[in-house]
Amino acid sequence: NKKGFIFDLDGVIVDTAKYHYLAWRDLASELGFEFTIEQNEMFKGVSRKRCMEILLDIGGITATKNQFDTWMVEKNVDYLKYIDKMDASEILPDVGRVLDFLKKRNIPIALGSASKNAQPILEKVGLLSYFDTIVDGNNVTKAKPDPEVFLLAAKQLGVKADDCVVFEDAVAGIEAANKANMVSIGIGDKNILSEAQYNFKDFTEMDDAFLNGLLAGN
Ligand code: BG6
Ligand code: MG
Repeated sequence: NKKGFIFDLDGVIVDTAKYHYLAWRDLASELGFEFTIEQNEMFKGVSRKRCMEILLDIGGITATKNQFDTWMVEKNVDYLKYIDKMDASEILPDVGRVLDFLKKRNIPIALGSASKNAQPILEKVGLLSYFDTIVDGNNVTKAKPDPEVFLLAAKQLGVKADDCVVFEDAVAGIEAANKANMVSIGIGDKNILSEAQYNFKDFTEMDDAFLNGLLAGN
């Protein structure tokens, strides 16, 4: 069967998870409380709106609809300042090698991200042309851990869900991939991503033999 590969963006292709963290931390500090790097784990793969809700919970803050929207915009403006300076040097190690490996073999590649900033980021780092389709926060209604984003990506690639492989750095993303019946590959801390079918610290640990195995798989 024809295989398809789906990449999450933030924390898999580029290390934007740190910029999301900094922007939320800036907002928390403005609102008068601390937001830690440990708490940031819960924000990975989660929509901007849901992150805002969790942040207010952490700070014990009740916001009016107006404040809520204002702060969410503020966070994004701050985040865009961080990503504005991004270039190809911020592509995570060996992402290019894995993309080239797949491209050379004509394997369909999709982006499956919760972010509404996905396309400009891929453009900035020069990877847009690798992707046959982009499914992101602008195209889905149900956020990870709902499998919608990955199922839509598979559909747009013309590949059956069972034949898709997902690279994810978020607990919610691994859960979404598992629900979609896809091969879930955790990129990051294997203690945090314990529900993933395979775990890698990063792409430097993933060799051609493993990738060939995925292509041959059932
Ligand atoms: C995900 C990130 O990729 O995108 C989350 O892991 C983020 O941390 C979400 O909240 C939404 O991103 P954006 O760019 O639309 O605010
Ligand atoms: Mg991610």
